[in-house]
Amino acid sequence: MANFRKLDDLGDVKGKVVLLRVDLNLPMQDGAVTDDTRVRAAAPTIKELSLKGAKVLLLAHFGRPKGQRTSDQSLSLVLGAVEKVLEREVMFVPEIAGDIVKQAIGILGEGDVALLENTRFWPGEEKNDPELVKAIAANGDIYVNDAFSAAHRAHASTEGLAHVLPAYAGRSMQAELEALEKALGNPVKPVAAVVGGAKVSSKLDVLKHLVTQVDHLVIGGGMANTFLAARGVDVGKSLCEHDLTGTAEEIMDAADASGCTIHLPYEVVVSKEFAANPPSLRTTNVHEVAADEMILDVGPTAVEAVGDALKTCKTLVWNGPMGAFETVPFDAATVALAKIAAALTKEGSLVSVAGGGDTVAALHHAGVANDFSYISTAGGAFLEWMEGRELPGVKALEI
Ligand code: 3PG
Repeated sequence: MANFRKLDDLGDVKGKVVLLRVDLNLPMQDGAVTDDTRVRAAAPTIKELSLKGAKVLLLAHFGRPKGQRTSDQSLSLVLGAVEKVLEREVMFVPEIAGDIVKQAIGILGEGDVALLENTRFWPGEEKNDPELVKAIAANGDIYVNDAFSAAHRAHASTEGLAHVLPAYAGRSMQAELEALEKALGNPVKPVAAVVGGAKVSSKLDVLKHLVTQVDHLVIGGGMANTFLAARGVDVGKSLCEHDLTGTAEEIMDAADASGCTIHLPYEVVVSKEFAANPPSLRTTNVHEVAADEMILDVGPTAVEAVGDALKTCKTLVWNGPMGAFETVPFDAATVALAKIAAALTKEGSLVSVAGGGDTVAALHHAGVANDFSYISTAGGAFLEWMEGRELPGVKALEI
């Protein structure tokens, strides 16, 4: 793994202003934050800097306001959630640079925390405009990036600042990078990847990269249907990107060439309608799907077979559910496989890393999220990392 500065490398920060990039892009419903996982992920870094006596200025984006101030995307809306997690008062500053921020710093005591406004209200943020970078940096002494989940963006607050101030990875960023290194960068072999989700088209680059990296690739969810169709299976009414069967074949050929075993479901759960517990529900061999049926989950015997493959592996990286897991009983394969992976992890025979919004929701639903070795808070950044891409926010921290 490339080297980067950590909080352990920080000298005395007492009275210094730390510009701390965090990810506060939180889900909200009816004005209330529905999941504060990202605040909790950033809390150890905020507390550590505060305890060391720094004045901590939180920088973050919220939504995609495209360079305009909008009242429903002000970070003031998440201030309450941040204060609740930190169990302290946090000052809100409606700017990210200039005199108002300077005045706020004058009011802050050592160890105090302030939340600056949504960085994406300024057009220079997404353009990584050097003028904006300079203006933000003018009020800070040190830059800490604790937002792995925004590190795939080369923006002023995620990338630019790292070049103009002494730059460090926060605790959450450090934990993400160390876990991801263990999962794909420098993993203990054999390595398995589980990739699911609705569409192949959204994860083509992930699959292409993984077949060159892992020993077992388990493909589930709707995207498995495209691979099955490429192998000549009649998938009936199932979700299937028929125009991508050629690409699926290429991926399977690449897997063959690099010694990666692809696992596709040979037993599936089908139904004539997509609804909870439908009357036409049945489990069948994948070659016996009727023309008016759709595949909605992997069958239990096929899940067991995947579990047996996992037992031979030392490392697992997981993104995407195995079936239509939000509708019962099509959550069964995802839940069963998650439980197998969790048990192997607890036993100490598997390092398991998972990421992506749906995946994390699925693992929570299976009740095993805490038993995985590491769960990433990232969505898009996790996928780009699985594609083998360099993340600009991470690259900028390298020394
Ligand atoms: C996320 O929610 O995945 C990150 O905060 C990045 O947000 P973005 O996709 O709007 O850049």
